[in-house]
Amino acid sequence: MKSAGIRYTMLIIVFLLISAFVLTPSTAVSENLDTLPAERLQTVVTGGLLYDKWWKELGIAKPASIHPSYPEIGKKRGTSTWRCKECHGWDYKGSKGAYGRGGHYTGIRGIRVAAGTPEKRVTAILRNKSHQFDRLPQRALQAIAAFVVYGQVDMDKYIDRASKKAKGDKASGGRLFQTICARCHGADGTLLNFSGDPKNPEYIGTVATRNPWETLHKIRYGQPGEQMPSMLALSLEQQLAILAYTQTLPLRRHQ
Ligand code: HEC
Ligand code: HEC
Repeated sequence: MKSAGIRYTMLIIVFLLISAFVLTPSTAVSENLDTLPAERLQTVVTGGLLYDKWWKELGIAKPASIHPSYPEIGKKRGTSTWRCKECHGWDYKGSKGAYGRGGHYTGIRGIRVAAGTPEKRVTAILRNKSHQFDRLPQRALQAIAAFVVYGQVDMDKYIDRASKKAKGDKASGGRLFQTICARCHGADGTLLNFSGDPKNPEYIGTVATRNPWETLHKIRYGQPGEQMPSMLALSLEQQLAILAYTQTLPLRRHQ
């Protein structure tokens, strides 16, 4: 009797383990954001915007000097060397990512390993000698840490490095773009010109084709200091669908 009971209990445990494994949604796509309480999402979004361009989002004076950790071999000077993305990349992979060569090369490693680590550890890194971000308000540092810990995705899984093509469903992306983005950017993404130069315009189609990693970051978090909303609450599949669709948008404005 007793051993039958134990066997029965074991069977139930095995069944529960298997069903937990089968029913748990794939973490490969949801990454570590889905378990976060809704109240914390806004902090992660703010952190993503600060990672992009913290002075714009905070509405404070931009630094004029070169960041003390920006290396000699780097080609950038002044303000832009203070953006997290300038040293760690839009794909968060630093020298192992898209910034592994070209005009943004620094040789600095990425922040992927810091995903899922304690947030306190990240705020400490932001205050260390190689960062010197203690000039930022404590709440901003906490938001950046929340982004680093919860907000990253492994972009190489979703964007082919060589062809820059996003792995997303263009058709459903078009439906999302036309209902969410077109209001501000126009049906073909050419209503706003980011370069401000009519001779050398930059539209969504341009950015998405040239820099899909930047575009995915901005789809997820929005644009620092602007009204553009974050799409973080959409599934990653939907975000990637939008990205894939934006890569079909024109690089030039039809007259
Ligand atoms: C001028 C270049 C530069 C900028 C800008 C910069 N970092 Fe770093 N970061 C580094 C260097 C160099 C290291 C490695 C050495 C170290 O940790 O002290 C590093 C390491 C890190 C690490 C640790 C990664 C690991 O291996 O554990 C994190 C996290 C990080 N940075 C986040 C950020 C964030 C967030 C920002 C923006 C607020 C930022 N960094 C801005 C240069 C930079
Ligand atoms: C409420 C208006 C609004 C909505 C909605 C909106 N955006 Fe934006 N977006 C902006 C503004 C404003 C800018 C900054 C324009 C500038 O800097 O000239 C911007 C910037 C961008 C950029 C950055 C370009 C760059 O190089 O800096 C991208 C990419 C972008 N938007 C894509 C999208 C996508 C995709 C959607 C839909 C998911 C979307 N936006 C929805 C207003 C909006």
